[in-house]
Amino acid sequence: MLNTFCKKIIATLKKGRAYKPYLLLGNGLLNSEGDFWKRQRRLAAPAFHRDRINNLNDLFVRHTTNLLKDWKQREGSTINFTQEMARLTIGIVCEALFGASISPDTIKTVWQQVDILNELAMQRIQQPIQLPLWLPTPMLLRTRKHVKILDDIVYGIIRQRTQNPNNKANDLLSMLTNAKDEDTGEQMSEKQLRDEVMTIFLAGHETTVNALSWMWLLIKKDKTVENQLKEHY
Ligand code: HEM
Repeated sequence: MLNTFCKKIIATLKKGRAYKPYLLLGNGLLNSEGDFWKRQRRLAAPAFHRDRINNLNDLFVRHTTNLLKDWKQREGSTINFTQEMARLTIGIVCEALFGASISPDTIKTVWQQVDILNELAMQRIQQPIQLPLWLPTPMLLRTRKHVKILDDIVYGIIRQRTQNPNNKANDLLSMLTNAKDEDTGEQMSEKQLRDEVMTIFLAGHETTVNALSWMWLLIKKDKTVENQLKEHY
C-alpha cells in the first residue's frame, strides 16, 4: 500500500520552475522527474553513501588547512568571505568529483564559470516572462558560451575516464561512470554523466558557500560563540 503510494508520488512529482532556467543542469537529479529520476537516484546513491562521504574527510581538512595557510600569509588584509568559501568549496567538489589530478587552473576556471552562470540564472529567474531557452537573446547566448567552457572541461574528463576503463580513480565520477542499473545493467550515457556532474557542481557548491558564509556572519555577531570557538581551537 505504502509502496504504491510512493510510486504514485514519484510518478506525479514535478520539479519547480526554479531549476528549469539552468541550461547548465540538463536533465540531472535536480531537474529530472518520475521513473527517470528514480533510476538516476538509484545509480548515484552509492556515491553519496555515509562511508564514502567519511572517506572525504582528509580532503576537506587538507583544502581547509591550505586555505588557512593562505589567510595567514594575507593576515591584516581584507578578504571577501563568500568568495573565499566559494574558492574552498569548488576546490573540494572538483577534487571529490575528479580526483587530485585536477589542476588549480581548471578549478579556477570552473569556479569563474559557475559564478557567471549562477548570476545569469538569477537574472533569468527574476524575469517576469521566461523566454524559451532556444531563443538567441544576448543573455542566453552568453549563457551558452559559458556552459560550453564548462562542457569542454567536463566532457574532456569524462572521456578520459570512459576511454580508459582500467582507470583506478576512486572518486565520484568513477562511481557514476561504473554505476550499472540493477534491472537493465545499463550505465549512464556521456550526456547523463555530464548532467549529473554539473548538478553536483551547482548543488554541492552554491548551497555550501551560502551556509558557511551565513555561519561565519552569525558567529561574528555572537561574541560568546566566537570566544568559545577561539578558546576551543
Ligand atoms: C548546506 C549545504 C546543502 C544544502 C542546504 C542543500 C539543500 C538541498 C535541497 C533543499 C535539495 C532539494 C531540492 C529540491 O528537490 O527542490 C537538494 C537536492 C540535492 N542536493 Fe543538496 N544541499 C546541500 C549540499 C549539497 C552537496 C554538498 C551536494 C553534492 C556534493 C548536494 C547535492 C544535491 C543533489 C544531487 C540534489 C538532488 C537530489 C535529488 O533530487 O535526487 N547538495 N539539496
